[in-house]
Amino acid sequence: MRKVILYIASSLDGYIAGPENQLDFLFHDQDFGYENFLPTIDTTLMGYKTYQEVLGFDVPFPYPDKTNYVFSRQSRPASQHPVTFVQEDPATFIRQLKQGSGGKIWAVGGGQLNGLLLEAGLIDEVELYLHPIALGSGIPLFKGAYAPQAFRLISSAIHPSGVIIAKYQKKTV
Ligand SMILES: NC(=O)c1ccc[n+]([C@@H]2O[C@H](COP(=O)([O-])OP(=O)(O)OC[C@H]3O[C@@H](n4cnc5c(N)ncnc54)[C@H](OP(=O)(O)O)[C@@H]3O)[C@@H](O)[C@H]2O)c1
Repeated sequence: MRKVILYIASSLDGYIAGPENQLDFLFHDQDFGYENFLPTIDTTLMGYKTYQEVLGFDVPFPYPDKTNYVFSRQSRPASQHPVTFVQEDPATFIRQLKQGSGGKIWAVGGGQLNGLLLEAGLIDEVELYLHPIALGSGIPLFKGAYAPQAFRLISSAIHPSGVIIAKYQKKTV
């Protein structure tokens, strides 16, 4: 079955962006392994808000060679970018996606989509880039209500910048 990997950066207090979607707390001057990670996946999943933020980066669409699904409850006009808008329940859609053919799937975010995926038990691995700053408020890594879910730490590394890279696998009983 295809795996869903949540590859994401967060603050020390569990925020993936500031209250106004600020990402300036992230260290942008270093790669942290992104260039190695990107070729390992062939599909991305984004909530509509994350998709909008990505478009606002003022760079070419970053995943032109991937299959990209963007979740929105509304009907969205076709994009000039290679994305498919999905109105279907994300958990149902992604459960089916995982059973089909293809490689690893990157859950890009944001917090709403992550919360839905966690609640549905659809996140197989988490690769977390924990930045040494407490933001106090913002967009949580996982939004909404979800039952506790245990993960096993499979590796960790300390980057000289102070970022901790922690890789987790979903714990199966
Ligand atoms: N630090 C990082 O590495 C990182 C990574 C990714 C994202 N982010 C940040 O996270 C922020 C966005 O996160 P967010 O939590 O606000 O939003 P999000 O999860 O990216 O997107 C939320 C949107 O997804 C759609 N959605 C939610 N539930 C749905 C459902 N049940 N069915 C269908 N569609 C559904 C809705 O779109 P509609 O409103 O169109 O219906 C909703 O507004 C941005 O600031 C982004 O930059 C940070």
